[in-house]
Amino acid sequence: MTNSRGLAGIIVDETKISSTKNAHLIYAGYPIEEIAQASFEEVVFLLWHTRLPNKHELTAFRQNLVEQMVLPAETIRLLLYIAKEPQHPMSILRTTTSLLGTTNDVEHDEPPKILAKMLTAIAAIIRIRDNEPLLEADHHLGVVDNFLLMMTGKKPSQQLSRMFSTVMILHADHEFNASTFTARVAASTLTDYYSCLTAAVCALKGPLHGGANERVFEMLETIKQQQIDPIVYLQDQLHAKRKIMGFGHRIYKNGDPRAVILKKIAAELAQETDNQVYFQIQTQIADYMLEKFKLHPNVDYYTALIYHCLGLQKETFTMIFAACRTVGWLAHIMEQRQENVLIRPCSAYVGPTGRHYSKGAGEI
Ligand code: CMC
Repeated sequence: MTNSRGLAGIIVDETKISSTKNAHLIYAGYPIEEIAQASFEEVVFLLWHTRLPNKHELTAFRQNLVEQMVLPAETIRLLLYIAKEPQHPMSILRTTTSLLGTTNDVEHDEPPKILAKMLTAIAAIIRIRDNEPLLEADHHLGVVDNFLLMMTGKKPSQQLSRMFSTVMILHADHEFNASTFTARVAASTLTDYYSCLTAAVCALKGPLHGGANERVFEMLETIKQQQIDPIVYLQDQLHAKRKIMGFGHRIYKNGDPRAVILKKIAAELAQETDNQVYFQIQTQIADYMLEKFKLHPNVDYYTALIYHCLGLQKETFTMIFAACRTVGWLAHIMEQRQENVLIRPCSAYVGPTGRHYSKGAGEI
């Protein structure tokens, strides 16, 4: 058996974008705990240029992003057709990302325009599913406020805007995670940005990756609605050999630094929106998982509650992750293109050997 299964611990290439070395998350040299206090646009610029913007650059960068938060009429027409239930929003986003590549200029579009379109499309999918009219960006607001406004129909308070900006920054990049690596594999064939992003969305959808946040809330809802003791619920799941969503991580065996920050935001929002009961269940579960299995919550655990407190449907949670991670995907596609080497690993063949074909021999 090869010891590189799942590529665990294998360094496949270099990156200047972010690092999880020694379980510390760093964006282009800045610790996540510090850079989480920057503005979202500053962090996007940092991840794309590996340096922070000056004041003038930041203003121009923000203005450009917000001005591009509009969809071509053709995209909207098709979105209105495909974005309805019962399809899962991540399936809709997968098709939408691909669609953006056909209703925009696939050969010449640059990352700022692509990020703006992705955020706008995700907000639009949510509005269409809520049977609400689509909203235009307010050019006096930044990207985070506009994203919230276009999704929920409400201009966020300063406090909510700050909290959500932190959430978006914490999700923006995470070195060679599964979806980013998928994007880089696609980029290494020199395909276009939209194709790389479509591949990344597909990888993020899975429950072992971004799809975990939706399932975390499903667990909390089941426990609350059916009035089950959270510990009994966990014991049943573990007995049935099911993973507990929102726990464990390939890199962070002693805790995910993002979850530490997100826990505080979840606690605050739960208090403000009268959702403390969910936070209490989460605390009980987290205590048990740590004590019994030394498993810590990951980034998806508390975001599930945060998104619920924002009034979002659980099926849309992974799309919000995708909105934030588009920043990192684009950063990595750019980096891959800069010094490209085709990513094409080898496998150890363990199938049958020495067979010979003779026509008709295998037919019944
Ligand atoms: N619930 C129960 N047991 C777990 C869990 C969990 N959530 N996570 C790990 N374990 C156990 C696992 O069964 C294994 O035990 P044993 O050695 O006895 O077989 C041990 O811990 C090591 O786990 P692993 O699955 O081999 O570790 P990995 O590095 O391959 O997987 C993981 C990491 C994130 C896929 C896994 O922890 C997991 O499936 N978690 C639940 C899904 C989840 O929350 N995903 C979000 C990941 S973080 C954000 C993101 O990437 O989107």
